[in-house]
Amino acid sequence: MLLQKAARFFSTDIGIDLGTANCLVFVKGQGIVLSEPSYVAIKNGEPIAVGEEAKRMAARTPIGLTVERPMKIGVIADIRITELMLRSFIQKAKTKVVARRRLIKPRILVAVPTGITEVERRAVMDCAEKAGAREIRLIDEPMAAAVGVGLPVAEPTGSMIVDIGGGTTEVAVISLSGIVESKSVPVGGDTMDKAIVEHMKRLYNLAIGERTAEEIKIAVGSAYLDEKSEEMTTEVRGRDLITGLPKTITVSSKEIHNALDSSVTEILLAVHSTLEKCPPELASDLIRHGITLAGGGALLRGLARRISEVTGLFARVAEDPLLAVAKGTGDILNYLDNMESDPY
Ligand SMILES: Nc1ncnc2c1ncn2[C@@H]1O[C@H](COP(=O)(O)OP(=O)(O)OP(=O)(O)O)[C@@H](O)[C@H]1O
Ligand SMILES: [Mg+2]
Repeated sequence: MLLQKAARFFSTDIGIDLGTANCLVFVKGQGIVLSEPSYVAIKNGEPIAVGEEAKRMAARTPIGLTVERPMKIGVIADIRITELMLRSFIQKAKTKVVARRRLIKPRILVAVPTGITEVERRAVMDCAEKAGAREIRLIDEPMAAAVGVGLPVAEPTGSMIVDIGGGTTEVAVISLSGIVESKSVPVGGDTMDKAIVEHMKRLYNLAIGERTAEEIKIAVGSAYLDEKSEEMTTEVRGRDLITGLPKTITVSSKEIHNALDSSVTEILLAVHSTLEKCPPELASDLIRHGITLAGGGALLRGLARRISEVTGLFARVAEDPLLAVAKGTGDILNYLDNMESDPY
């Protein structure tokens, strides 16, 4: 007991958003100290680069070097590499923390998608433990996102959060500190990037990598188009599948909008089906409070407007949507001691 108390006194708590696309680390008392892509470069079975540096190497690797994304669709696809990545991020976070000693055996709160299996939860716990945690708690990602964007989650009123990440879109209605209705679909930034890769192949016989596709999405992608929308273009470099030679072509925002439409439609359907299951009192709260979008996918041009048009509800993008989950884990850390009974 005394030892436990001493350990608590000498170490600090950290919150982690272990995402498919990005991993963020929040240190209690300091805020978000690290935000890096969830990538690991491996050579001879050993990690040689992690995060930003590894992402830059992706699809440009010589023989014997691979770049892995150990998280897929919000869950751990490769336990060993996730553990390596997590360990490295916690290590990096330590170098940015004032009282380094306090991060020796931290308590860690990790945000995980709703509806993951017991085995998947166990895998996250194992990874965090092996990466150096003294104690691990898990929190539902949409709850963390809702807290992070400042929704009144503890009030007896309904709030809707839509977190569009790289691997999944999580929709949840929250009231009185609990999730009342939720839906998680395997659609997000990655499916959009894949749709752009396919589009370029089908229409132009042009092979491009997923990183290039992501750049196109961010440059000209959109979820809403009307006659007033400004037509944008961007240059795309890839390999001609017929000649085998490098080629540059110009694509328009309209065709990229069309390529993204099936992903966007699936997000709209997830929002719609959650609203459909919502009890009437909460539905009427949502008319007043609207829908809040978080996650990197929330930055897709016109997505809030499209959701608003389809649902008839007000929809807004949270401030700093990419930081929402990490900020939320940071707030929830303050309640860690009595989390079993009431997480928030
Ligand atoms: N301006 C933008 N427009 C469209 N998409 C964007 C923009 N900026 C970032 N994204 C996308 O957001 C995604 C990353 O978001 P985020 O960091 O919230 O995901 P994640 O939390 O790692 O994933 P998940 O929650 O599914 O595990 C990427 O697919 C990225 O391409
Ligand atoms: Mg996320």
